[in-house]
Amino acid sequence: MGATTEPIPQEPMFEVEDLSSVLPMTAEVVSGHLRIGGVDMAKLARERGTALYVMDEAHIRNQLREYVKWTTFHWKDCETIFAGKAFMSVAMCRLVAEEGCALDVSSGGELAFAQAAGFPLERVYVHGNNKTMLELHEAIRAGVGRIVVDSFEELQRISCIAQEMGVEQGILLRITPGIKPDTHGYIQTGQNDSKFGFGLNHGLAMEAVRRAVELPGIDFAGLHMHIGSQIFALQSYSKAIEVIVHFMDEIMRETGVAVRELDTGGGLGIAYGLPDEPSTVEHYGKVIVDGIKEHVEEHDLPVPKIMVEPGRSIVANAGVTLYTAGTIKDVPGIRTYVAVDGGMTDNIRTALYDAHYEVLVADKADQPRKEVVTIAGKHCETGDLIARDVRVQPIEIGDIVCVCSTGAYCQSMASNYNKQVRPAVVFVADGESRVVVRRETYDDLLRCEVG
Ligand code: LLP
Repeated sequence: MGATTEPIPQEPMFEVEDLSSVLPMTAEVVSGHLRIGGVDMAKLARERGTALYVMDEAHIRNQLREYVKWTTFHWKDCETIFAGKAFMSVAMCRLVAEEGCALDVSSGGELAFAQAAGFPLERVYVHGNNKTMLELHEAIRAGVGRIVVDSFEELQRISCIAQEMGVEQGILLRITPGIKPDTHGYIQTGQNDSKFGFGLNHGLAMEAVRRAVELPGIDFAGLHMHIGSQIFALQSYSKAIEVIVHFMDEIMRETGVAVRELDTGGGLGIAYGLPDEPSTVEHYGKVIVDGIKEHVEEHDLPVPKIMVEPGRSIVANAGVTLYTAGTIKDVPGIRTYVAVDGGMTDNIRTALYDAHYEVLVADKADQPRKEVVTIAGKHCETGDLIARDVRVQPIEIGDIVCVCSTGAYCQSMASNYNKQVRPAVVFVADGESRVVVRRETYDDLLRCEVG
């Protein structure tokens, strides 16, 4: 009698999602195939081998240009410094130089890359909380623009080396503004309990300024801060800026010295997952530059040169990692593991920070992602996973698996665990691909063995 009220069981609806927020800007799907920079990813993977890092040159350039545009829009004397730790290669250094930006190096090794690339050394900023004497010598001899000083010992060491060499070294003092941004504990750096910089409590930062001003061989140019990484809430920057400009005012009152340069570090967050909604570079530029201008005007101080130091937001979404699916293991009632030919050696971020990544099959990119699988690495660790319980297109052995948003802190944190050779890096642009870092060989692994 009458119509049944029982719901008719239906197949769940799956849509082809828009992955553009986690993919490079030139990504497109043509006949089901993912293309980046006009290059077919599945074809590239089969030609060059996997695992493979692919970087979209146009995306990197666009991000650098966005930073330059939205900082200088508010104040002409701004500089964008690319934080090399996010992704460092000779080709990348050259690209940064071509875009007229500066470079942050955090070790002697990164400085060697800048030198190998012929990067203009006066645009190099040297970081690190325990630079060795050798690294300091190398940096000063090379004529780097600024050393960002992290301790009293380092100030003294720079003074001695610079005098020995008969030069005056420009420095910034790294200040810990006492702000804890809302991000993973391992990548918070601006809080009081930090190994980085000089704290404002107990007069440490002011004491560092006094010494920097007095010590021979040192040109005290200004201050630096870096509150953390993968930051979504820009209020953390506003608070830190208020604190640091207040400190600039104290410096002026106590020493009569004007801070000529203010580097607010990096840290702008990016989208790793589809729900992520990071701030735009446009908004960030306004918060930083307008924030500084507003506070210095309140204190009647001159507006300094303003530097920003982004790493992740330049390269993360520019990159993908391609793998080949090697085994598929269904653990009944638990989950399906798809093991690929890489893992924690080329992407440690999932094991280290429980990072989330979006995944797709490179030549089924027009199909809905209706399977849930765990992408596992090939290494001898249970925690060697790349993406836990992620949605992906129906996947088969031999498929090319594309993990999105891996352009930052993956290649730069890669290791040779299990004596795995590290992948090549390919830049793509205008339908062409070029290998900028070749895949390692077993000979590379054996090169340092002398016993
Ligand atoms: N400046 C300084 C002094 C830094 O220490 C960092 C990053 C940056 C700039 C760039 O920050 P970004 O814009 O990339 O957030 N390995 C971690 C990230 C560590 C960040 C270290 N410092 C990860 O994979 O999430």
